[in-house]
Amino acid sequence: MDQVYVSHHPLVQHKLTLLRRVETEPKKFRELVREITQFLIYEATADLRLKDKQVQTPLAAYGGKEIGERIGLVPILRAGLGMVDPVLEMIPTVRVWHLGLYRDTKTLEPVSYYNKLPQEADVDLCLILDPMLATAGSATAAVDVLKQWGAQRIKFLGLIAAPEGVRRLTEAHPDVPIHLAAVDDHLNDHAYIVPGLGDAGDRQFGTG
Ligand code: PRP
Ligand code: URA
Repeated sequence: MDQVYVSHHPLVQHKLTLLRRVETEPKKFRELVREITQFLIYEATADLRLKDKQVQTPLAAYGGKEIGERIGLVPILRAGLGMVDPVLEMIPTVRVWHLGLYRDTKTLEPVSYYNKLPQEADVDLCLILDPMLATAGSATAAVDVLKQWGAQRIKFLGLIAAPEGVRRLTEAHPDVPIHLAAVDDHLNDHAYIVPGLGDAGDRQFGTG
């Protein structure tokens, strides 16, 4: 599983522990999602291509660099929404295309209800955002959609995964790097990640 990156940064592990706590209320939960995402995006963009950029300092001309790739953010509704702002803060030039997918509670299959991708895939890198990779049905469907659309380079950013989900996504899409804060123990009978954090959408938006 060469393409799976789990952050071992102490601040990530500290914040992830707070995020998991059942007492963590939605306001604090959203804050922690934002903060952990900042660390993950820092690591996930370490291989971005740069291009030359000339600027003038107060003293001299300087041959610097700027991001040389067109980046599309693809948050999966709802829970991926909380990961958008921290990426926009770091990389203000990204474009955001939402994909609406939810898991059918009986079949656990992803149901698509929103897709606002433009006609042309004029982007160099797509970053899928979703805090939870459980069965990976949603993430696999999102990658399928992006590849059919024409995306050439895709990465998945999540907070917590189950080993089952990591396996399924890497088998279906071995070319998609997966950036995570943790891989947990297992999925329960309802396909919730254990120990996990519960329902990431409900905990962000107070709908549990
Ligand atoms: C959650 C989560 C993922 C999906 C993960 O969304 O945000 O999108 O489940 O599960 P999977 O890997 O088994 O597909 P959910 O369906 O609860 O929708 P929501 O974000 O609107 O609450
Ligand atoms: N979706 C969540 O929000 N949490 C899980 O544990 C599994 C799917």
